[in-house]
Amino acid sequence: MEIITDIASLRTRLKRESSIALVPTMGNLHQGHLSLVQLAQQHAGCTVVSIFVNRLQFAPHEDFDRYPRTQTTDCHLLEQLGVEIVFLPDEKELYPVPQEFQLLLPAVADTLEGQFRPGFFRGVAIIVLKLFNIVQPHIAIFGKKDYQQLHLMQKMGQQLNLPIEIMAGETVRAEDGLALSSRNSYLSESQRQQASHLFRTLFHVKQKIEQGDHNLRLLEERAKCELAKQGWKVDYIALQQRKTLLPANTSDTDLVILGAGWLGQTRLIDNLEIALTL
Ligand code: PAJ
Repeated sequence: MEIITDIASLRTRLKRESSIALVPTMGNLHQGHLSLVQLAQQHAGCTVVSIFVNRLQFAPHEDFDRYPRTQTTDCHLLEQLGVEIVFLPDEKELYPVPQEFQLLLPAVADTLEGQFRPGFFRGVAIIVLKLFNIVQPHIAIFGKKDYQQLHLMQKMGQQLNLPIEIMAGETVRAEDGLALSSRNSYLSESQRQQASHLFRTLFHVKQKIEQGDHNLRLLEERAKCELAKQGWKVDYIALQQRKTLLPANTSDTDLVILGAGWLGQTRLIDNLEIALTL
């Protein structure tokens, strides 16, 4: 496995590859990330995993400084999987100060995560577009765990005519349903117990809808109350159309329920797809 830190060396190295898959990450890799790497390996001859904690997608009060950085272990895990290239970009080379060119995102980027983390998707979009331009992959893989991010990256690919196939990886979960996340390491033991309630609550709503309960707004409200009872400070629970991420109506059959909330200082998100057969 090669660890490359500068753009010129990476470009030279990638010239000899005919099929490249990129898995962008912020490191602190867990089984969720690794499942995306394995998906990449099934679809391309050369897998590039980037590890970069992207300052631009963190608001000043957020956890950029304490975000877990575990490069040595990460590289070890990727080497064991047989990854060809790890790209560890240098912030100074990636970002001019100031980064004057910016991207304007569609309105959906201001909803859900975007409503509670203003500017977050602008930061994600610019780093991902930079990585796409540097690596020029044929395929890029994103996890469904960050459903709105995946949606926006697919939309960016389509609307900017990028010659890159955006592929989705399923969410990998712990035994109790909690979606794996680098931020789970912030949780105390008791918070870790509470954490699975996000998945359980979303799953309960999914079951209710599958059983024919179509009172979507009431289901959202009840789910928020249930989570609050379990000690969560809820940002949102939202039943949306899967393809547009706009609020779902009773006549929709292709849905996703998304949720986000806080346990103490830790913010977690999750979602579940709901496909209804009429
Ligand atoms: P990060 O949170 O490190 O996640 C990297 C990729 O792993 C994302 O596509 C995310 O959806 C996926 N992922 C995270 N947890 C997962 C899980 N439990 N199961 C499956 N996939 C999972 O997302 C980011 O980094 C950044 O925003 C990034 C796209 C790298 C841009 O900076």
